[in-house]
Amino acid sequence: MRVLGIETSCDETSAAVVDGTGDEAALQSLVILSQDVHRVFGGVVPEIASRAHLTSVQPVVARALADAGVPLDSVDAVAVTHGPGLVGALLVGVSFGKALAHALGVPLAGVHHMEGHLFATSLEDRAAAPPFTALLVSGGHTLLLDVEAWGRYRLLGRTRDDAAGEAFDKVAKLLDLPYPGGPHVERLAAAAGPGAGDGLRFTRPMLRRDQRPDDPDYYDFSFSGLKTAVLNAVRAPRDGAPVPRAAVARAFQDALVGSLVEKTARAVVAHGRTRVVLGGGVAGNRALVAAMRDRLAPHGVTVYAPGARLATDNAAMIARAGLFHLERGERAGLDLNAFATLSIPGLIAA
Ligand code: KG4
Ligand code: ZN
Repeated sequence: MRVLGIETSCDETSAAVVDGTGDEAALQSLVILSQDVHRVFGGVVPEIASRAHLTSVQPVVARALADAGVPLDSVDAVAVTHGPGLVGALLVGVSFGKALAHALGVPLAGVHHMEGHLFATSLEDRAAAPPFTALLVSGGHTLLLDVEAWGRYRLLGRTRDDAAGEAFDKVAKLLDLPYPGGPHVERLAAAAGPGAGDGLRFTRPMLRRDQRPDDPDYYDFSFSGLKTAVLNAVRAPRDGAPVPRAAVARAFQDALVGSLVEKTARAVVAHGRTRVVLGGGVAGNRALVAAMRDRLAPHGVTVYAPGARLATDNAAMIARAGLFHLERGERAGLDLNAFATLSIPGLIAA
């Protein structure tokens, strides 16, 4: 089945063509147009994002088809992100996808954005298939899942306040770095060198040795306290001298990564998994991937992380997740709506 994917949930207008069956499906093209305009405002301005999607969605879809070398009328189905995300932005993709599916007379699938992130790495590496432990870390979500099979997800943990990417973006602001902050904080932290931090160390949030698997916070995350710790370190000079910004970035990243890695390791052990799949923009952070591999390799666990283009928001993952639902016979109607919040489909009792 040849699926055209469309993603407009935030500030990337993206379209992709995926062709094939199940885990054998291959990515034929992927176009991602990032809306740079938001950098001026230091964050995504929803109305500007919606209007930018409106002008870009058609050329981006046309380009994805041209890159794949396939005509529009050869598309067998359309998959579009319908939540969670910015409603005005989502509505552009949803309306466009509906019109296209209707005009072509092909099935339509509404895809959950985070389920898309779950499928992203499998497009690059077929071994990144269930069963596995998944850590999804994006600008709006931090989810720890046990993935028994595609479409069967146990939600183990989530953030209680800021998402991991959001924490990177807020800390970037405190360190006078541009938006989106993740890659800038990562670069600055790397500049601090090994063993750096200048003696600065932040507590790993929600991580204590005495936590038990049935404690409600055993798998959960929290990053807003870490952000406050950064604020205090930036504002309060130590011994009269300000803490170097690189040391603050490094200490922040170490604490955030430490918490993500330990909670993931707990989930791997509890469910006896041998694979970990990372997804979302923060999965592009090399320090996170390296720390995850260092921690889990001795246990015989392989860590799969998406490449840069598939880590960030993209339509390839939406087409792939859509293919999964379409192959199960699921169809969205022309009444498909967009939702700012939406629970991930396929949840089973933890
Ligand atoms: O998945 P994504 O592209 O969009 C959402 O669904 O939110 O994630 C974007 C987030 C932003 O917060 C961005 O700062 C963060 O991912 N990010 C990173 C890195 N690259 C992107 N965070 C840490 N390190 C990175 N290298
Ligand atoms: Zn995302």
